[in-house]
Amino acid sequence: MMTPLPRVLLLLLLLCPAIVAQELETTSCSTDLAIRGGTVTFSDGGHPGSTLTYSCPPGKYPYPLQRRICQSDGKWTPMRSLNGIRTNVAQCKDIRCPPQRSFEHGSFNPRRSSHPIGDILSFECFDGYQLLGSSQRHCLPNGRWNGTAPVCDDGVGHCRSIAIPPGAIVTEGRNRLGDRVSFQCQNGLDLVGSTQRVCGPEGEWSGAEPSCRAPYSYDRAEDVRAEFGASLTDVLSEVSSSGPDPSGTPQPPNLGRRLILSKDSFLYIYLLVDASHSVTEANFRIFKTCLEIIINRVASFDVPIKFSILSYASQPKTIVDIHEDIAEEPELVLEKIKKEMNYKDHGNATGTNIYAALNAIYLMMLNDQANVLEQWNKVRHAIILLTDGKSNMGGSPKKAVDSIEDLVDVRANRKDYLDIYAFGVGNLEVDWSAMNEIASKKPGERHAFILKNPEELKTAFEDVLDPRDLDDICGLANYSDSAEWYQKNPWHVLLQDKHQTEPSCRGALISKTWILTSAHCFNRMNDTSSWTVILGGGQRRLPIKRRIDHELYNVRAKLAQGIQEFYDYDISLLELENPVRFGGRIRPICLPCTEGANKALKKKPGTTTCKDHELELLSFEKVPAQFINLDNERMNVQIKTKTSRPPCISGAVQEDMIYSQVSDASEVVTDRFLCSGDDNAVEAAACKGESGGSLFVERRERHFQVGVISWGTYDPCKKKKKIRNTQETMRDPPQRNHKPRDFYISLISVQDWLRKHLGKSLRFIPMQ
Ligand SMILES: *[C@@H]1O[C@H](CO)[C@@H](O)[C@H](O)[C@H]1NC(C)=O
Ligand SMILES: *[C@@H]1O[C@H](CO)[C@@H](O)[C@H](O)[C@H]1NC(C)=O
Ligand SMILES: *[C@@H]1O[C@H](CO)[C@@H](O)[C@H](O)[C@H]1NC(C)=O
Ligand SMILES: *[C@@H]1O[C@H](CO)[C@@H](O)[C@H](O)[C@H]1NC(C)=O
Repeated sequence: MMTPLPRVLLLLLLLCPAIVAQELETTSCSTDLAIRGGTVTFSDGGHPGSTLTYSCPPGKYPYPLQRRICQSDGKWTPMRSLNGIRTNVAQCKDIRCPPQRSFEHGSFNPRRSSHPIGDILSFECFDGYQLLGSSQRHCLPNGRWNGTAPVCDDGVGHCRSIAIPPGAIVTEGRNRLGDRVSFQCQNGLDLVGSTQRVCGPEGEWSGAEPSCRAPYSYDRAEDVRAEFGASLTDVLSEVSSSGPDPSGTPQPPNLGRRLILSKDSFLYIYLLVDASHSVTEANFRIFKTCLEIIINRVASFDVPIKFSILSYASQPKTIVDIHEDIAEEPELVLEKIKKEMNYKDHGNATGTNIYAALNAIYLMMLNDQANVLEQWNKVRHAIILLTDGKSNMGGSPKKAVDSIEDLVDVRANRKDYLDIYAFGVGNLEVDWSAMNEIASKKPGERHAFILKNPEELKTAFEDVLDPRDLDDICGLANYSDSAEWYQKNPWHVLLQDKHQTEPSCRGALISKTWILTSAHCFNRMNDTSSWTVILGGGQRRLPIKRRIDHELYNVRAKLAQGIQEFYDYDISLLELENPVRFGGRIRPICLPCTEGANKALKKKPGTTTCKDHELELLSFEKVPAQFINLDNERMNVQIKTKTSRPPCISGAVQEDMIYSQVSDASEVVTDRFLCSGDDNAVEAAACKGESGGSLFVERRERHFQVGVISWGTYDPCKKKKKIRNTQETMRDPPQRNHKPRDFYISLISVQDWLRKHLGKSLRFIPMQ
């Protein structure tokens, strides 16, 4: 970062030009550099050690790719093209997709030596052959073809015909038992996956499906998913043998590709972070953010887990050893990373010794095996390496990978016990072949990725996780790009009276049988039997057994004072006729002051009270929170507490509103209410129909309901128009001068009532 000089100081310097000139001469590199069609940024104003980064608009890549570093002699490191030849002109070039080189038992077009973005490749099979995979693939802006690699199969071979990825050539291979097919990428492309695959006894090709990657091509989270899909052609035969899913939706075959999170098996995760000079301090910070994302996410599943952390350049440095007691405590691991993991630890080491880093893990494992002999075989290991991909010393990392595989005793039926992932993250010069050398190669899986930023890593990483029998944990959401809205908000339910054409209220699942919603949805009607609870995005419509309104809820309670509608205690519980089964689509939200929430907040059982939860969840002046709108998307608001609360609730009384005659806002906004909204209408406001839904906050990748949507001063969806094309509900801004506010029944404030009715279904922690 360049810190601006104070004005006075700047003037002073101008008065002494001689000093300035001397400074520049000895230390700085020129920042007067450009790239044709793109932009240049400097990490440190061109001082020695600062980096120069070329960037290009989408669909283009900088050529040469390399960043350049300001050397102590005031010169940038020279530009080199991909094959190491010096070049003089930096320019943005068009990203292109590799060509299909061949396609067995069928035809494809167009044939080109490479394809511009937007090109479409179409495939057809000869008579007697069935096309598996995508019959059309589009060239995407990151230089990759979408869809899955097609094959033409006649059902005769022992294995299926094998897919030939774009950019690859294969040796003449057949698909009889024991046949061997070798792949090679054309010049300039790196092979990711297995270079050789064998048709095995189970009718499955060994290794991982290869792809050919240009050095500039990176993965978007959605491509990672597509790539998982790309290997589907390997396992399609398994689909037909597994029966239909009871829910009626087609299930993808179990690829067994992912990191298994289960209560029954212990998982060790080893995180290795590249800290060599080429990574740069800025990217090292990105890596640290990634560690945090991975640790928080994995820890959010409440499975038995240990973390080991290591940084490396020419030598590894262990931050957390797998034997240490803190390895089981994600909080403490994160703390130690913050405190003890520094870029500077590795000096200015230019070496990247991935072998030494992996070998350090191997030794750690060896030591651990000696300690926990009998359980060792039950432990699953995942090694996650974050790198800029250039191992330049210490020899081949493969040697260390081999030792680890031997130690873990990886065989066909123990494939689940070891996964090695290699992630390149950030604006790096990643070397695909180096990543591929380290990463595990399993059928239907990919373990080597290059992603542009930590956010992409977060969504991509989500697809790597496979939670098993973790149904009873609350507040867990799916962050995958491919997840449906109800997987992202699996507690959210819609409430509909069968006599109405659409749902009129929302609610939240808090246990197997209970839904929390607002009382005004039912207007004190006696009979809720015509209502249904819609869960899992409409896949389940469930009858209601009974409804319990808060006994103090009474809309007419303050009629005598001239208050027409009064929403204090606007909260109801609905009991379902039958308990639901939890899973990825249906899961409860965490209710504060319960043991489930306590666990989700990573507190030791028996050490916390309801007060602690309140402090943890609602102690900021403005607490960022969310609710779910009519289109099932999350909307952001801020709960105003402490000194921000009075101005917030004062908004309940505004001109041309039902409460315009009320003298004191606290007459209508009692202590039961949380308040959100701002005078400039920047925050979202809730619409009619969103009532009863949860107001929730996120902590450590888990979700905690703090309120129930009750009422507001402004309905943005009053006109209920749909936006053409998207079919989204139009949310209009309020009239000028209006200051929108929303009010929610605080769950902390109705604990007595919740405890009285839910005491049998949920375990609560002490109030004080
Ligand atoms: C590929 O992308 C195109 C254009 O975005 C889209 O229409 C098509 O459905 C995609 N195909 C697959 C198989 O994802
Ligand atoms: C790294 O290099 C910088 C600048 O060349 C130097 O000031 C610093 O002392 C070096 N650090 C170490 C640990 O060698
Ligand atoms: C998230 O959703 C995706 C897409 O449905 C699914 O493949 C994945 O397993 C889910 N992840 C978790 C952690 O539930
Ligand atoms: C509900 O039931 C009570 C007592 O049975 C009755 O007095 C009241 O009128 C009913 N309310 C409605 C809206 O039907």
